[in-house]
Amino acid sequence: MERIGEVQTKLLSEIAASDAPRSVLRSNELRELYAIIPTLPVEERSGAGKAINELKQALEQAVVSREAELVVIDQTPIDVTAPMDVNAELPALLPTEQGTIHPLMREIERVVEIFGRMGFVAEESREIDDQFHMFESLNFPKGHPARDDYDTFMTEETDVDGERLIAPAHTSNMQNRVIKKYRENLDRGEAIAAIVPDRVFRNEDLDARHEHTFYQVEGVYIARGVNVGNLIATLQAFLQEYYGKQLDVRVNPFYFPFTEPSFEFALSCPFCEGKDENCKVCSGEGWIELIGCGLIHPNVLRAADIDPREYPGFAFSCGIDRLVMMKEAIEDVRHFESGKLDFLRQF
Ligand code: DAH
Repeated sequence: MERIGEVQTKLLSEIAASDAPRSVLRSNELRELYAIIPTLPVEERSGAGKAINELKQALEQAVVSREAELVVIDQTPIDVTAPMDVNAELPALLPTEQGTIHPLMREIERVVEIFGRMGFVAEESREIDDQFHMFESLNFPKGHPARDDYDTFMTEETDVDGERLIAPAHTSNMQNRVIKKYRENLDRGEAIAAIVPDRVFRNEDLDARHEHTFYQVEGVYIARGVNVGNLIATLQAFLQEYYGKQLDVRVNPFYFPFTEPSFEFALSCPFCEGKDENCKVCSGEGWIELIGCGLIHPNVLRAADIDPREYPGFAFSCGIDRLVMMKEAIEDVRHFESGKLDFLRQF
């Protein structure tokens, strides 16, 4: 059968060029040859069957040798000694394309540096905390409705009181610890002045202004004679230094359980300057809330063993993501946690 010779030439050259040569054994041409056998006159069938089987064997052999060839191609040596070699030298510099500092980290360093020049020390928060620090020590008694404002993520694990542990929803969870840690400053006639820039978590509905994971910088300042004027002056000095220019700020009365009186600082929207009703960043309000603040509630001071009549204080918390969004004209807070390289590489 001539056809057998043709199929053999074709399939052998396919096998020689293929990266998966075994698939050629399932080709239609071969199947068709087998299908011809029953259509032949009886006396020719066995000869044809034998010839086709021989062809199949020749193809199989070709597949085996092609596979061996492919294995050889794949045998580039892999250097397994490098990760183990403690004496190997590190490259002097990594190529810059390999990474840049995340814009939030860079700006946190800047925030710490500015507050540092204003006399504030920086402390870190934590990623899991108990309800005492998240709520009770901040004058949210059990069952207080304002607890619900925080949309907290709870763990299944509980603390010694059987209360669920929490992924902190604000950096105010550190107030009690920070005040206790620096309590002796007051005895020496110095102020307690600390900031806590760190990550917080909320079960939010996500949009251009809301993320489930974001950053705040908490501030606590306690000394004799502190008043609201000191608070506003401190925040204005910080914002002016950070943005390097005078800004339109709005201070409105507000409510937080842990400050009395409480305020909210807003900055005028740099995207629409209050002129676009449909602005996605400020929802057409013209202002972006940036800082919650106030004079520390006497119960919060007492929970940290401070006599509020002797040592009043102020506290504040600024949303770092929003601070940076407004500086760098970033229109959507979700970019920060997105891992999008085309976004990150702009910084
Ligand atoms: N912890 C508050 C929040 O995340 C913000 C805040 C308000 C912090 C007033 C403060 C403060 O320290 O004094 O919504």
